[in-house]
Amino acid sequence: MIDGAVMVTGGAGYIGSHAVLALLDAGHRVVVVDNLVTGFAWAVDPRATLVEANVADARVRDIIRDHAVKAIVHFAGSVVVPESVANPLKYYRNNTAATEALLESAVAEGVPHFIFSSTAATYGTPAKVPVAEGDPTVPINPYGMSKLMTEAMLKDVAAAHPMNFCALRYFNVAGADPAGRSGQSTIGATHLIKIAVEAATGKRTHVGIFGTDFDTPDGTGVRDYIHVSDLAAAHVAALDLLVAQPAESHILNCGYGRGFSVNEVLDAVDRVTNMKIDRRMEGRRAGDPAALVADNAAILAALDWRPERDDLDTIVRDALAWERVLAERGA
Ligand code: UFG
Repeated sequence: MIDGAVMVTGGAGYIGSHAVLALLDAGHRVVVVDNLVTGFAWAVDPRATLVEANVADARVRDIIRDHAVKAIVHFAGSVVVPESVANPLKYYRNNTAATEALLESAVAEGVPHFIFSSTAATYGTPAKVPVAEGDPTVPINPYGMSKLMTEAMLKDVAAAHPMNFCALRYFNVAGADPAGRSGQSTIGATHLIKIAVEAATGKRTHVGIFGTDFDTPDGTGVRDYIHVSDLAAAHVAALDLLVAQPAESHILNCGYGRGFSVNEVLDAVDRVTNMKIDRRMEGRRAGDPAALVADNAAILAALDWRPERDDLDTIVRDALAWERVLAERGA
C-alpha cells in the first residue's frame, strides 16, 4: 500500500474505470483525472475523486500536491488504430506529447511511481508468436509508435529522476466487471467482442470478418483476448512491485498467452448467446497483423498476479451482460 493517493488518468474510460475499481477494492485512495471526451463521469466509482482536466494541463501539478499523489496510473489517450493512420498528429499529441507534459508535472512534484498503458501494437507485425518483451518493436501504425515513444521517454526519465515505471503492453482487452459495475461503453466501438455483443443485443445486424486469407489455421486473425478485470488486477500488482522495488522498472506483456481466431471468438458468442450471429466475410482491414499472442512468462514471474478469468466464454458472457445493461439504459 502506498502512503498517499493514486492518480488514475483516463479513469472514466473503459480500462481505466476497471482499474479504479481494482485499486479502490485493494484499499487505495484514488483521484481520477479525465477530460471526459470519451469517458463518462458515471463510470467513475463514487469512492474515487473525479477531477475534470486534461493530463497535459499545468494544473495537474496542483492536483498531485493537493491529493498527495504518490503514483500515477496513466490510461488517458486515443486508442483507435485506423484513426491514428488517418490523423497521426492527434495520436502524437494526445498520447506522446500529453504524456510528456504529464511526466513534467510528475517529475516536478517528485511522484515516485508511474504505470503506463502500453500496447501490443508496439510490436507491429511480429516475426513470431508468442511475442516477448525483448522482441523487436516495429510499430506499423502511429498509435503503436505514439505508445512506443512514450515507453522510450519513461526509460530516460526513470534513469534521470527518482521515479520507477511499469509499462504494461496490453493485448486484446475485452469483457466487463463481473459484478456489473462497469464495462465497455465506448460509442462507435471497433473491437471485435464489443461489436459481436452489440450484434447479439440487436444494436447491429451482423459482424463483418475482416480477412479470411491470413496465414492462420482458419484464415481469420488471431488475437490474445484478456479479461479487463484480470488486466485491472495486474495494475494493482504492478503498483505493489514498483513500491517494493523502487530502483527497478519493467515492461510487461499483458495477455494469457493463447490466441483465438475471429471465427473462434464468434463461435464463443454463439455459444454464450445461444444465437447464430450473422457473419459476413469482408476484406482485410488496413494494418491488421495475422496473429498477435503474448509470451506472458515475464509478467507471471514479476508480479504477484494470476489470471482469474482466463476463459473466452467468460469474457464474452461478461461483455454481453454489460451490453444488456447498456441496452436497458437505452445507451
Ligand atoms: N475484427 C473483425 N471484425 C470486426 C472487428 C475486428 O474481423 O468487426 C478482427 C480484426 O481484424 C482482428 C480481430 O478481430 O483480427 C481483433 O480486432 P480488434 O479491432 O478487436 O482489435 P485489434 O487487434 O485490431 O486491436 C487491439 C486494440 C489496439 C491494440 C491492439 C494490440 O484495439 O488498441 O489490440 O493488440 F493496439
